[in-house]
Amino acid sequence: GDEEDWVARPPVVTVMGHVDHGKTKLLDAIRNSNVVAREAGGITQHIGAYQIVTELEDYERPITFIDTPGHESFTAMRARGAKVTDIVVLVVAADDGVMPQTVEALNHAQAAEVPIVVAVNKIDKEGANPAKIRQQLTEYGLVAEEYGGDTMFVDVSATTRQGLDELLTAILLTADASLDLRANAEQDPQGVVIEGKLDKGRGPVATVLVQRGTLRQGDSIVAGDAYGRVRSLLDEHGNKLKEALPARPVQVVGLTSVPRAGDTFLVVEEDRVARQIADRRQARIRNAQNASMRKRISLEDLD
Ligand code: GTP
Ligand code: NA
Ligand code: MG
Repeated sequence: GDEEDWVARPPVVTVMGHVDHGKTKLLDAIRNSNVVAREAGGITQHIGAYQIVTELEDYERPITFIDTPGHESFTAMRARGAKVTDIVVLVVAADDGVMPQTVEALNHAQAAEVPIVVAVNKIDKEGANPAKIRQQLTEYGLVAEEYGGDTMFVDVSATTRQGLDELLTAILLTADASLDLRANAEQDPQGVVIEGKLDKGRGPVATVLVQRGTLRQGDSIVAGDAYGRVRSLLDEHGNKLKEALPARPVQVVGLTSVPRAGDTFLVVEEDRVARQIADRRQARIRNAQNASMRKRISLEDLD
C-alpha cells in the first residue's frame, strides 16, 4: 500500500494478574463503568474488550483494553500463534503481593516479549505495601525505574481512583518508547477472534480485534472454520458501528457458527468464497481428529 495509507493506531493493552487483584475494577474505574457489580460471584467469565479515549494533556489518545478471565484465553491465543496485545498491565494487589497467577501472567508476557507495566493496586487498603511488591518482582526480572530498572510501576487504587492518570501515562509512554503502532486501514481487513459465544437471541457472536484494514457491516468473513456475512458490528456498549478500524474490538453478529479464541478472521469477496474456505478448514479439522482417534485406537490395541 501507499505510505499515506499507514496511520497511527491505538495500543492494545491486556490486563492480567492474580484472581481478585482488581483487574476488572481497575478497568471500570478507567472507563467510569461498573462491570464488577454485574459479574456472578465477582469472577470474570468473559473477556471484556474496550476502547477508551484518554485526555491526559491537550490531545486525545485512544487505548484498547482487554480484560482476561484468568489466563486461559491468552494462553490459548498464544499457543495458536495469535499476537493480540502490545502491552501487558500486570495488576498486583498491594495487600496480597505476588501470587502464582501473577507469576504465570508475567511469564506469558515475557515469553511473548511484550512490555509490562505494573499496576500496584489497592493501595488504599490497610496493610498495603507497594515497596514490597517492587521488591518481590525484582526476582522475576521486573525492576522498577526508581531502583535503576526499566519497568514502570504505578501505585493505584481502583476504589479511590488514585493513580489512574499516571497509569494511563505510563501505558502511553511505554507504547511510544518501544512499539511501532501503525496500521494500514486500506488493506484487506483481518484480525483475531478474542472470544466466541452463542447468544440466545443473536446466535453466534464473536468479539474480534481488527488488526489491519477496516471491517464493515455487510462484509463476508471467515473466522476459523466459521463464516458468514457481518449483519451488525457492535461496540462494547452495544452501539452499532458502520465500520471498525485497526485496534478496534467489536462484536460481530452474523456468523453461522461460533469461532474460537485465537482464530484469525479475514474478509473475502463473496459469501460463496467464505463458505468454501470454512468448509475446507472444517474438513481439515475433521481429518486431524480422525487421525488422532485412529492413533489412539492403534495405541490401545498395543496394550
Ligand atoms: P477476577 O476477574 O476474578 O480474576 O478478579 P479481578 O482481578 O478482575 O478483581 P475484581 O476487579 O473483581 O476485584 C476483586 C475485589 O477487589 C472486588 O471486591 C473489588 O471491589 C476489590 N477491589 C478492586 N480494586 C480495589 C482497590 O483498589 N481497593 C480496594 N479496597 N478494593 C479493590
Ligand atoms: Na474478581
Ligand atoms: Mg475480573
